Amino acid sequence: MSELDRLMTSDARREDSDIETSLRPHTLADYIGQEQTKKNLKIAIEAALTRHDALDHILLYGPPGLGKTTLACIIASEMGQNIRITSGPAIDRPGDLASILTNLSQGDVLFIDEIHRLSRAVEEVLYSAMEDYALDIMIGKGPTARSIRLDLPRFTLVGATTRAGMLSAPLRDRFGISYRLEMYTPEELAKITARSARILKVEAEPAGLSEIASRSRGTPRIANRMLKRVRDYAQVRYDGRITLAVAKEALDLLDVDPLGLDRVDRNVITTMMDKFGGGPVGLDTLAAATGEDAGTIGDVYEPYLLQLGFLMRTPRGRVLTPSAYEHMGRIYPSKTDPADGAEQTSLF
Ligand SMILES: Nc1ncnc2c1ncn2[C@@H]1O[C@H](COP(=O)(O)OP(=O)(O)OP(=O)(O)O)[C@@H](O)[C@H]1O
Ligand SMILES: [Mg+2]
Repeated sequence: MSELDRLMTSDARREDSDIETSLRPHTLADYIGQEQTKKNLKIAIEAALTRHDALDHILLYGPPGLGKTTLACIIASEMGQNIRITSGPAIDRPGDLASILTNLSQGDVLFIDEIHRLSRAVEEVLYSAMEDYALDIMIGKGPTARSIRLDLPRFTLVGATTRAGMLSAPLRDRFGISYRLEMYTPEELAKITARSARILKVEAEPAGLSEIASRSRGTPRIANRMLKRVRDYAQVRYDGRITLAVAKEALDLLDVDPLGLDRVDRNVITTMMDKFGGGPVGLDTLAAATGEDAGTIGDVYEPYLLQLGFLMRTPRGRVLTPSAYEHMGRIYPSKTDPADGAEQTSLF
């Protein structure tokens, strides 16, 4: 199945764009979950505001759809500043970045999404901008070339990435603060769907919303998308009200199981069981065997399977746990202890 027709993908799909804007919380108080991050962020913001200074540069990382872009916008509005939004792949040449930077005003927030995709040359311009609020520009060529330094306003860079591991060390080190966004609990997601239902003026019972929440694989973007699908189903088949029964029926029809696993997740799990005896198996081998992209498995499927405790990363590859077998209604082949780095345990 291609990523495009995959309903459960946590990447943004075209159908999301119309609702994402209206459902996006605008204040920290409206931003549900991520308690640790919010607590630390509140302190950092308050401190910067009392010092009348710009906030430290902030790196946000975590799987897609957990609220990085949303949080970046909230940071700017809580600071009472404007936000300028761009992304790694959109900044082609160092000159593009220089023009963005020189157009910033004091205190502005510059949000660079997918910051791991900046080219090396662009990244180097960013180093002095982040550290010294200055741009070094080369004028001329050859022996007469000289560099001049341009001062920049004190701005705050907020970088977002789904792959913190792909960030170069010098770039990572220049962020004063970094927050890892965690997957949401079903209770937090239930609050998010309740808020979204209110905004979309959908009549819904708490039990129906909880059902949507627990099948949304820890991701607000998926929860909002599911809510919309279930709303449509309730309107067409019933009286428009989302009850527990309606939610269950609609989600079953979408082939999303009670834990939020879809066909692709189940394919990954059963492939590991049938072809690799439950693992260990390397990411690339698994990708080839399932016909999925290795990056997508690593970024999108794996985090939730890890969160459920169905999968473990070991030095020798991915290993399924007994819970995965239990969920799929299969018997666990007790050859190795998964907690043991997938090494054969020996009593001698
Ligand atoms: N904490 C939250 N509370 C309420 N709604 C949220 C929260 N986080 C995210 N959302 C909802 O989920 C949607 C997706 O969030 P967002 O676009 O910020 O994710 P992202 O992490 O930037 O994803 P990507 O990695 O794809 O860019 C938002 O439109 C918003 O409605
Ligand atoms: Mg985003």
